[in-house]
Amino acid sequence: MDRNFENAKEILNNMKERYSCRAFSDEKIPEDVLKEIIGVGLRAASGGDLQPYSIIVVKGEENKKLLCEASGNQKFIQDADVNLVFLMDWHKYDVYTKQKNAPFVAYKTFFHFLIAMQDIMCAAQSIETAAFLSGIGSCYVGSIIGESSLVKEKLNLPDKTYPVLILSLGYPKNTPPAKINKLSYDAMVFDENYRDFTDEDIFKAYENKYNGRTTNLPQKEPYKSESLKTFKNALLTSYTDDEVEKILEKAIEDGFINETQRRFGLHYSAHKLQEISKEVYSDIESMGIFPNDI
Ligand SMILES: Cc1cc2nc3c(=O)[nH]c(=O)nc-3n(C[C@H](O)[C@H](O)[C@H](O)COP(=O)(O)O)c2cc1C
Repeated sequence: MDRNFENAKEILNNMKERYSCRAFSDEKIPEDVLKEIIGVGLRAASGGDLQPYSIIVVKGEENKKLLCEASGNQKFIQDADVNLVFLMDWHKYDVYTKQKNAPFVAYKTFFHFLIAMQDIMCAAQSIETAAFLSGIGSCYVGSIIGESSLVKEKLNLPDKTYPVLILSLGYPKNTPPAKINKLSYDAMVFDENYRDFTDEDIFKAYENKYNGRTTNLPQKEPYKSESLKTFKNALLTSYTDDEVEKILEKAIEDGFINETQRRFGLHYSAHKLQEISKEVYSDIESMGIFPNDI
């Protein structure tokens, strides 16, 4: 097929408008449109051209509910017309390599674990883009990781597969939200080698992105004490007791924390993530994938 570059600028401008959509209308995505956008993903680049993944297309209410529950009850998953579950999939090669008398350890090397993740993101992002350009909204859901046991039976997942990511798809219910700030081009892209970034440059780059955003601490008990406890335990992973006390005192005095404190202290709280990471690792192993069995 001849390629046509005349509309390139228009398409690129369109792509820059992408956003995560978390509110979907009831309109169904026609089957041919869905197949078309997934097909774009299947043409994505692949490390060693192994394509070590599979995609489960989930439309049924029961399975959507299951995915929602396995992903921290994020309601938009249930409201989405379709959820694509991206599986790391070494099962198919496990079978095929034996059929072809080929050696096979990819499911237990960190190298191929990362390659498979890279592959999945290439395919998923092509699908996200294709969906967006077709007027379909989408949102990734990463919080399925660590929860394979909840979906293994219902989705009939064989050993050596692992659900890495969901992409929820549907027609947007609302007009696009205001554009969120991204880190600037200069803060992200360096010529030839890592930029001579001063601490001040880094500070400015993130301040521009977060734009002074703060989050109020809850005023009512027990929420206030619970938040402060979580925040404190998170801080203790990175600061001395004295430093933690000072940071906490300031937060209590202000009645709010800054956006970075929220992200690493409450949302992805540092101490909990250390624990969760251990669970995620054993969850992956429970599916017969051993990311570092050397
Ligand atoms: C790997 C990955 C996992 C994500 N997981 C979630 C999720 O579980 N829930 C959610 O609401 N958004 C999730 N997102 C979407 C991000 O929150 C979103 O991309 C980010 O806030 C930037 O907003 P934008 O996509 O509108 O630019 C995820 C995005 C990525 C790339």
